[in-house]
Amino acid sequence: MVTPFKKQRELFPTLSNTIHLSSCSQSAISLPVKDAISSYLQSWTENGMDWNGWMDEVQHAKNEFARLINAAPEEIAVLSSVSDAASAFAGALSFSTERNKVVTTDIDFPCVGHVWLSHKRRNAQVNFIPPEEDHSISFQAYEQAIDSKTLVTSIPHVSYYNGYKQDLKLLSQLAHSHGSYLFVDAYQSAGSVSIDVKDSDVDVLVAGAQKFLLGVPGIAFMYVKKELANQLEPLTTGWFGRQNPFAFTNQILDYADVTRRFDTGTPPMINAYAARAGISLLNQIGIKPIEEYLNHLSGVCIETAQKHQLEIASPLDIERKGSNTAIRVKHASYLEQHLKSQRIIVAARNDVLRIAPHFYNTEDEIVKTVEAIAHALITK
Ligand SMILES: Cc1ncc(COP(=O)(O)O)c(C=O)c1O
Repeated sequence: MVTPFKKQRELFPTLSNTIHLSSCSQSAISLPVKDAISSYLQSWTENGMDWNGWMDEVQHAKNEFARLINAAPEEIAVLSSVSDAASAFAGALSFSTERNKVVTTDIDFPCVGHVWLSHKRRNAQVNFIPPEEDHSISFQAYEQAIDSKTLVTSIPHVSYYNGYKQDLKLLSQLAHSHGSYLFVDAYQSAGSVSIDVKDSDVDVLVAGAQKFLLGVPGIAFMYVKKELANQLEPLTTGWFGRQNPFAFTNQILDYADVTRRFDTGTPPMINAYAARAGISLLNQIGIKPIEEYLNHLSGVCIETAQKHQLEIASPLDIERKGSNTAIRVKHASYLEQHLKSQRIIVAARNDVLRIAPHFYNTEDEIVKTVEAIAHALITK
């Protein structure tokens, strides 16, 4: 299959001399993102200050993220990281009734678990579902863990470790049938896997911009369903969470309507420029064709790894995985550096090397990378 996005690949000049396969960690830099960052610097240089223009860009970034996940722009808040967003949601919950249980998993990125654990001092009872041997969580395990005391079920959409993907609709139905909210960490899926928060009916979904959203660190988006957002009063707050941030009324804590109430202080404006450009590019192409192509690349990666008898830590069923294919190796960090010296960028995590393509990658790059790993394992 020829890459369907040959034209868009030209927007990523570094790909001419680098194989960039680490979108589960940091995607490649594109011209639109670079230009967007420059335009912030230019605005600052030329205008000295353009508060309104910079704030508009933050709103545009929210709009693009809303479009990506089929939410309304008013249902999106901007924070600095997924850790911040998870903390913001957790802090807005009350654990003081019988319904004080958090059901989460051991395949979550640790920062989410850390956030829930920090609320034990507020009476949260935190239960971690252990993974199966293949790093998945069975539906039965969720059925056993979620009950009438569960306040929130907290899951990753796609695992950071091996790309294992979960069915959001099925899990939101299960959580809701017990009266639990569903909180989703979509940092490993947003930008590479279709997300429809209305169809899947998740309550809260968070993602940062650095990975498949093609942006930079320091900005994360938080979707909170409108009906829920209006019932919550965040503990972590600031002037941008007020009805009118510019009213400067020190003694009035009036929460803004809908999810803007989760905004806190001055937003990460320069990061919003980058995020808007990255997500806008994804929206222009469309996530569905991107997802289809990434599934194809997953197939190529798995097939090539099997041919070279590499140990695959990801699901072999493409329907159950995101872009990331994890290859189990000894000395993953060392191998990551070794491949980098050949201008092949992959991402090590514990005992795996993660090969995480985006739409701009080619079949050829996947094959070359897997061959380079196989070769390194034989010769090192
Ligand atoms: C799924 C997932 N969630 C959260 C994080 C960490 O997010 P942050 O550093 O924005 O808190 C990562 C980072 O790799 C991740 O992969």
